[in-house]
This record gives sequence, structure tokens and C-alpha cells, in this order.
Amino acid sequence: MKSIIVKPPKAGVEMVDLDLKEKLSAKYILVKTIENGICGTDRGIANGNLSFARVPSGYDYLILGHETLGMVIEVGDEVKGIKKGDLVVPIVRRGCNNCLNCLAGRQDYCETGQFSEIGIRGLHGTMREFFIDEEKNLVVLPKSLKEIGVLLEPLSNIVKTFEAVGLIQKRMIWNCQDSSFECRNAGIIGSGPIGLLFALLSRSKGFNVYVMNKREPSSLEEQICNAIEAKFINMTKDEIPNFDLLIDTSGYPSAFIPLIDKINKNGLLVLFGTTSKDSHPLDTNLVNHIVESNITILGSVNASKNNFIEGVNLLSAWNNSYPELLKKLITNKVKAEDAIPYILNKPKGEIKTVIIW
Ligand code: BGC
Ligand code: ZN
Repeated sequence: MKSIIVKPPKAGVEMVDLDLKEKLSAKYILVKTIENGICGTDRGIANGNLSFARVPSGYDYLILGHETLGMVIEVGDEVKGIKKGDLVVPIVRRGCNNCLNCLAGRQDYCETGQFSEIGIRGLHGTMREFFIDEEKNLVVLPKSLKEIGVLLEPLSNIVKTFEAVGLIQKRMIWNCQDSSFECRNAGIIGSGPIGLLFALLSRSKGFNVYVMNKREPSSLEEQICNAIEAKFINMTKDEIPNFDLLIDTSGYPSAFIPLIDKINKNGLLVLFGTTSKDSHPLDTNLVNHIVESNITILGSVNASKNNFIEGVNLLSAWNNSYPELLKKLITNKVKAEDAIPYILNKPKGEIKTVIIW
């Protein structure tokens, strides 16, 4: 079975032929990989920059891949809700089985840190021709979403973030007088796949949306922003409005800290991106503003199965309201045998690169 492997903490990625002797219990589901998305996490691991990446126990390599679209080709005797031919997406994180959140299916809020993540920490991923998983870890997609189903995993993380934002903002009245969110501004730093998916979801919730980057938009970014009625802001020269919700997808403190004084009273700063080697001081004026304005800073990572399921509904809805738009987020499609350069480096103009098996 052709597989794309890494050997963290070492940099490097290779395609190898593996014969994994995986256990076939009555609960197994054999899935043929159709596509994998490549994201910053994969690139961080492949370039040896993500310290939390680790190989599964008993192996000296890790099969990469956590953004997946697959098709079921065989199911064990005890499998009830999934059948041959179904399109499926696996959730990423598998719980520690030891804390209350993991035991309740909320391993995205694991308290012990002893969780695993496919293709990232301690479990093989899906950048391979086939993989085996259990029903509880798989989300079924309607066939109509085949072309964009690979976007479900990144989207699930954004659904989880909004779930948390909604719960936190119940601390007071945050909706507008007509009960909508149309009087609220959401600013998103970064216009990659995560930034644009945040823009889509914020628009769907009714926010006025501003997508920000330190440059002019590409023509594709412009098209996407126009289609969803979001405004693109070049942070180096355009005027920046005030925000009720500021979402950073860049991970650069020097990008989001200077914008904290643009956050309105009772607002939120959401930190979603991570990176290395940048710093920016948080001076007392900003601390005072955060305190005096009841501003919440929220970090968010990963997603539960329920967030994936809500993501399926969103993809279906967006497929109707913005026909053809989501496909445009997939800017590059590469065959598995040609994928390595794309895993190591982001090609120019990329929104999402997808590996085809
Ligand atoms: C994945 C998450 C995962 C995170 C780890 C992301 O790329 O989508 O599921 O928890 O990486 O930092
Ligand atoms: Zn990812």
C-alpha cells in the first residue's frame, strides 16, 4: 500500500510501499482514500517544525494525513450505520479514555493531554491508499458533497470555535435589537483556507465580515469575498474598522496584538493559528482595554464528531447558496506520487492543495 510517511522530529517526507498488519475486528471499516488535504500542520511536521508530532508506538515512522475524504469498501459484521460505498471522513483526535471530556466524546477538550491524533500524534494518518477505522470515528457525507468533502475536517475546527464563541457570548446580550448579528463586525486575519472558511461561517451567522491580509487580494480571494459579501482589507494601507469578533488565523502576535484596541466592548479575540518565531509586547494600554471592555481571549483547536456533523450540513447549505464557490478553495490537485514538494512547501497562490489517490 502506497503511503506518505514522516519520521518526526526529523524533517523529510517520503512515499513508501507498506504492508501494515492492522487488526480486523468485527467493528472494522475498510476505507479507500479518495483525497487528502494538505495543511500547515502537515507542512510543520514534514519540515520538522512541530514538536508535538510523534510516531505510533512500535513504529519508527508516522503515516501523515488528517484531512481526508474516503469511500467505504468493506465493513465488519458488527457495523450498523455505515455501508459499502458510503463517503466518509474520519475525525482526527482519539481520546485518552481517562478524563470526563474524552469519555463524553469531547476529546477536543481532553484534560490529560494523553490523546492521539491521526497523522499528527501517535496514530497513523490517511495519506495512504487504504485505512481502517471504526464507525464511531467516521462521519458519513452525502454523495453530492464528493467534490468538496475534503474540506470537512478543516471546517469542523471552525464550527467548534463558533460553538465556543456562542457559548461564551451568552454571558450578556450580544445579538442586535432585531435578534440577528447583522450589527456585529467580524474581522479575520489571514486569507488562507481557514480564514476563508471562518469568513463563510461568520457571514452565514449574519456578521459583517472583513478578511484581512498584509497585501492586496488575489483575484480569486477577491472573487470569493465578493461572492459572500465580505470585504478584503489590506492591513498595510486600508482603514481598519472596529470588531466585535477578531479571529487570528496567522499565529503572528505582531499581526493580532496591534489590533486588540480595535475590539469593541464585550468582544472576543480568537486565536486559531500557530507559528514560531515572532513576538510583540502586550502593553498596559492594551491590558487596560481588555479588562475595561470585558474582552475574552479564546484559543481553539480540533473538533468533536458533532462539529463534523454540523459541518456536513453547512457544506450542503453553502453548496446551494454559493454554487461552485467551495470548489474554488481547492486551488491545486496533485497525484499522490507527485505530492511531496507540495507537502514540503506551499505553492504560490494556493488556498488548498488536495492529494488525489
Ligand atoms: C487539525 C486538528 C489538530 C491540530 C493539531 C490541525 O491541523 O485540523 O485536528 O488538532 O492540527 O494542532
Ligand atoms: Zn489540518
